[in-house]
Amino acid sequence: MRNFTNVHDLGNLQQALKEAFEIKKDRFRFTELGKNKTLLMIFFNSSLRTRLSTQKAAMNLGMNTMVLDVNQGAWRLETERGVVMDGDKPEHLLEAIPVMGCYCDVIGVRSFARFESKEDDYSEKMLSEFIKYSGRPVFSMEGATRHPLQSFADLITIEEYKKTARPKVVLTWAPHPKALPQAVPNSFAEWMNATDYEFVITHPEGYELAPEFVGNARVEYDQRKAFEGADFIYAKNWAAYADPHYGKVLIRDMSWTVDSEKMALTNDAYFMHCLPVRRNMIVTDDVIESPQSIVIPEAANREISAQTVLKKMLKSL
Ligand code: CP
Repeated sequence: MRNFTNVHDLGNLQQALKEAFEIKKDRFRFTELGKNKTLLMIFFNSSLRTRLSTQKAAMNLGMNTMVLDVNQGAWRLETERGVVMDGDKPEHLLEAIPVMGCYCDVIGVRSFARFESKEDDYSEKMLSEFIKYSGRPVFSMEGATRHPLQSFADLITIEEYKKTARPKVVLTWAPHPKALPQAVPNSFAEWMNATDYEFVITHPEGYELAPEFVGNARVEYDQRKAFEGADFIYAKNWAAYADPHYGKVLIRDMSWTVDSEKMALTNDAYFMHCLPVRRNMIVTDDVIESPQSIVIPEAANREISAQTVLKKMLKSL
């Protein structure tokens, strides 16, 4: 696997899951694979879990790691061609990317949707430029439209906790004070659609995701109806996708917060969220602190998803 930006790059999903569980049983079995290889992690946006779990995964494989926070200490980067660079951005991305490629063997990139241009966001402009100009294998540490390392960890977690072969998994919108990208819900939907689970998406009208991500999911506008009989509740906020409201917060309806009364409608469902989570906006304290909350094991599996992906990339160097 040269690059990793979505579920399809992984190839056979069942095989990848098998590899992930083997790694989880013995995460230091492949320490020779990354010897004298360097991972460069580039962050255009903040991170706690992705930064730590990916670095740990690389160390488990024997790799050296370097982290660059582009907006803290690096030159500000111009991203558009044809610009007269007489402003506050002294370096162009088109030099910066190949230079970064000189110092490493694999590159991870985090670059969120900017909500300035839907076309730029949905063409994954930044990730595509790293793939095109770095000369190195590139993986997404959350792009504008997807967060595949998170979704892979989510899938691993569901496989570990599911009580039936074909669980009912519900992705629910929940309120948030700021406009958030669609990367996590898009990606979660993409990965759920790659399984044979029963998959339902619930959100207020106006928050429809892009049809290519919704795929075969059932869309249910009544959150309570969606929760009935669910085995997993995956909560997330996202801003509107559809024009003319792309990137906008349409409503902040607190009746969509996941609480214990709604969880009681489920089949004793597990509660999931990618974190960070805004308590008492997205989910109440009692639900996230309940025994059914699996947000911590879900976050722990980020190390496993990252290690499985890095192992595959190292093997193809
Ligand atoms: N879930 C997730 O990607 O967390 P961070 O933004 O902290 O990396």
